[in-house]
Amino acid sequence: MSIKHRILQAGLLTSLLISLQSLAAPIEIKFSHVVAENTPKGKMALRFQELVKERLDGKVEVKIYPNSQLFGDNKVLEAMLLGDVQMAAPSLSKFQKYTKQLQVFDLPFLFDDINAVDRFQSSDAGQKLLQSVKRRGLVGLGYLHNGMKQLSASDDIRVPADIAGKKFRIMTSDVLQAQFEVVDAIPLKKPFSEVFTLLQTRAIDGQENTWSNNYSKKFFEVQPYMIESNHGVLDYMVVTSAEFWNSLPDDLRAPIKQALDDAIAYGNKISLEKADEDRQLIIDSGMTKVSELTPEQRSQWVNAMKPVWKEFEDEIGADVIQAALDANKSN
Ligand code: LMR
Repeated sequence: MSIKHRILQAGLLTSLLISLQSLAAPIEIKFSHVVAENTPKGKMALRFQELVKERLDGKVEVKIYPNSQLFGDNKVLEAMLLGDVQMAAPSLSKFQKYTKQLQVFDLPFLFDDINAVDRFQSSDAGQKLLQSVKRRGLVGLGYLHNGMKQLSASDDIRVPADIAGKKFRIMTSDVLQAQFEVVDAIPLKKPFSEVFTLLQTRAIDGQENTWSNNYSKKFFEVQPYMIESNHGVLDYMVVTSAEFWNSLPDDLRAPIKQALDDAIAYGNKISLEKADEDRQLIIDSGMTKVSELTPEQRSQWVNAMKPVWKEFEDEIGADVIQAALDANKSN
């Protein structure tokens, strides 16, 4: 055999080995998130990992990085577009750089409750919003609930006038900024990972979050007052990059999506139970005073904050806001 033939043979062998090796190596899905594992998002991610292992063992592997371990909430989408992480489920309030339409979810007092949010997300209009991040290279794979937000503070608060001049941490959303500015409070956009310390050191006076996040991140331990305001929603969009999603072999993309859909259905189911459970745990802790609002107090908040809708109507689309409102009617 000539030298030329041998080299050719060795080359063929190497490329065969390389392709065999790549066939054997599982496709890795890094799933990065900022919350604790004992939350709707944490548990959904774990269930997804479990289902993928059960159904696609050896072919696909899900690695989960909770608690802002890998990326904080403001970096994860950039990292995804660079291919450093394949999946995440940021709060709908954190997509502002990618689409303005998702701002609808931040409008204060828009949804009656989480069931209305669910109906809107399942509607044609809601499903269409999953596509709103497409032109920025992201694929919206589904919505996941956390729940309705409550206000917490270092002083007793009941009516909008009580938070005037006070500093509140918000997610990176201009709607949330407007929501606090309209009642003369001072909103500060800060990453989730910094909230506990900001509250503990009294660098800020308060924040808004769900029962689950307030409980799992111990915000209630450093906030002596909470009101059950249910003034807005904190839900998620599970996303991946179009580049990663399209690179998947067809016979794996469908089962991965199915595993995710099943995990999301599970996450949504437990989100309702967790909200009730964590609310009770916070009340029972005795570390914070949780107050309900009287109808009169509640209408003060509604009247003060609702003008924010008009401000964002053009960016969001009046039709989208109307579709969200229609979801209330089926109660
Ligand atoms: C927050 O920043 O308060 C939330 O978006 C955290 C989360 O992912 O629930």
